[in-house]
Amino acid sequence: MSFDYESKISDCVKQVPPSAIRRFFDLASEMKGRVISLSIGEPDFVTPWDIREAGIDSLVDGYTHYSPNSGYSKSKEAIAEYIKRRYGMTYDPNGQILITVGGSEGLDLAARALINPGDEVIIVEPCFVAYKATVMFAHGVPVTVSTKPENSYKLMPEELEAAITDKTKYIILGYPSNPTGAVMTLEDLAKIKDVLLKHPDIIVLSDELYGELNYIDGKPVSLAQFSEIADRVIVINGFSKAFAMTGFRIGYLLGPKELIAPMNKIHQYCIMCSPSMAQYAIVEASLNGDAHVEEMRKEYNRRRRVILKGLEDAGLECFEPFGAFYAFPSIKSTGLSSQEFCERFLMEKGVAIVPGNAFGDCGEGFVRISYAASMENIQEAMRRLAEFTSELKAGKD
Ligand SMILES: Cc1ncc(COP(=O)(O)O)c(C=O)c1O
Repeated sequence: MSFDYESKISDCVKQVPPSAIRRFFDLASEMKGRVISLSIGEPDFVTPWDIREAGIDSLVDGYTHYSPNSGYSKSKEAIAEYIKRRYGMTYDPNGQILITVGGSEGLDLAARALINPGDEVIIVEPCFVAYKATVMFAHGVPVTVSTKPENSYKLMPEELEAAITDKTKYIILGYPSNPTGAVMTLEDLAKIKDVLLKHPDIIVLSDELYGELNYIDGKPVSLAQFSEIADRVIVINGFSKAFAMTGFRIGYLLGPKELIAPMNKIHQYCIMCSPSMAQYAIVEASLNGDAHVEEMRKEYNRRRRVILKGLEDAGLECFEPFGAFYAFPSIKSTGLSSQEFCERFLMEKGVAIVPGNAFGDCGEGFVRISYAASMENIQEAMRRLAEFTSELKAGKD
């Protein structure tokens, strides 16, 4: 007799579909060796050496223990100094900063600390796959707003206004965007701020993980720079993307003490603290990492141009992304669905990219191409893309 595992799993977990990105990683890894992957959402760079060395030194010196729950003071002070330097914002290391296990933990903590069953959370799609899932795991109701290429995938103030109800608890904003590469400038964010001023009860969770990877002027911006609403903005940030530190599993939350404290309560019981070695490494990253970030940003920008040119040569329309390391071209002209396009491109040409509908229904008809890959691989993948689209076209004619 076999045990009925299925009936033991919570309904809440069952209702969340498995991530569609996974399927492509699995398919691509089966084809190992022959595949160029432009599917991955993490830097191909190795963490800069001095940052790694700071982590190694902490191990050599025997700092292998739990840290205080919210993080070592030294690490929080370094983050406060980084945020002041790069954004001009002031956060008190004692209560307004919580060091987390990546930006991912921040998303989860906010959902669990804020949501009562049935509360609505506005999610701006297409978006990072965890936004909807973390809300659903916390018994919240995701209310999606679809952004459009003709608006450069920015959230339009009237779209936000239309999605707000008396059940709205918070909004998740993720700019620069994964998967579209869209950026919202301070002027764009000011319009969102104006909507929020009309709705004084609503909190914003602003995911700014890709903030440094901005190809307009390289200056990160934050919704929390607007002092009129800063008291209800929770910023999620971290080191994974800009500092190429995904494996360190470290990020942080910034916000008013009254919101950080309940999130720290969950963190304290469920996680305890983020890895101490990583906390040492980010002191170096925060205080001395600017030149490394700038070097990587410039290289991403070079690759971004090559990708955009490659898409044009392949006859695929793409709105110009100015942030993160993704392009989100339309594949509608091919007549294939996003899934079909990605599967065939992988099987026939050995290049892995991600179907746009993995990031929300409005992503159907699009694909996400990551340029966190070597220039050589990007160039070869673009050559194969042009070949693929011309073969598709010839097949249709
Ligand atoms: C928009 C966005 N936010 C948050 C995360 C999570 O990052 P971390 O690795 O710091 O947990 C990711 C990772 O892909 C992301 O793309």
